[in-house]
Amino acid sequence: MWGIPGAGYAGKMLSMAAKKFGLKCKIFMGAKDIKRQRPNVEAIRKNGATIVPVTTGSQTLVDAVSECMRYWVSNCNVSAMCVGSTVGPNIFIKICAWSTAQISRELIVQLKEEFGKIPRKMKLLNCVGGGSSAMGFWNEFMDTDAEFIGIEAGGPKNSKLHAAPLTNGSKIGILHGAAQYVIQNKEGQIGSTESISAGLDYPGISPLHCFLKDSKRARYTSATDEEALNAHKLVSTLENISPSLEPSHAFAEAIRIAPRLSSSNVIIVNSCGDSLKDKDIIKSRLGDYVR
Ligand SMILES: Cc1ncc(COP(=O)(O)O)c(C=O)c1O
Repeated sequence: MWGIPGAGYAGKMLSMAAKKFGLKCKIFMGAKDIKRQRPNVEAIRKNGATIVPVTTGSQTLVDAVSECMRYWVSNCNVSAMCVGSTVGPNIFIKICAWSTAQISRELIVQLKEEFGKIPRKMKLLNCVGGGSSAMGFWNEFMDTDAEFIGIEAGGPKNSKLHAAPLTNGSKIGILHGAAQYVIQNKEGQIGSTESISAGLDYPGISPLHCFLKDSKRARYTSATDEEALNAHKLVSTLENISPSLEPSHAFAEAIRIAPRLSSSNVIIVNSCGDSLKDKDIIKSRLGDYVR
């Protein structure tokens, strides 16, 4: 089995499954991400999987996906490729969206516990890298009045680099076997991205989200690195959770919109990752603040 994570979670899960079923497992990960997501990398290794560092290009998720696909097409008779987001050729998108849909089924249970029913005026906020957790979070609510807000990585404040193709009007191009809005130059070459969050640092976006944007079913915006860090600190200080840098982007949007809303609105943010994997980055950016 071969797998590709950005932040390392998909690699952690895949290596666990491989261990359980006695299969060999290789995880392709950008060399930059291996360094910045050390706790998840250690967990992958503990599960007995081999990590293949990808040192081409920006050494992040986009390069890891390319390298894993190259390897897979040369070895597809003896292996299976797993993709940790709703990206890549059609079938991988379907498998990923189908499995992450469980998140929204669990949300229904939690909503009924909390409110006794599913609230009518509800905003569902989720960060968007490739788009799998957002698809999973929204899946069961497609035919309801729930408002969907996807938050991409705006990159460092005052930098031209970002990982927000939907927010910044990127054109349609082809990446990893699918047409999508993608950060690119005039010749269609894939552009560089930058984000503090390894999981959101990707120039493309699932075609499913391109459709949700075009059909205006979902709204997309972005948060900068600094906004995400501030949101992480605020949420960790006030709530009994410590979101990783990916969902901290979504919390940043919640903090932005909440003061304008009446109390009848319900905002729900998918806190889809824990900050343990980001502890080194958070410490270096927020000083001694560590929850
Ligand atoms: C915690 C977390 N959230 C979000 C993402 C972004 O991916 P996706 O948009 O596919 O959910 C990742 C990717 O690694 C992640 O680790």
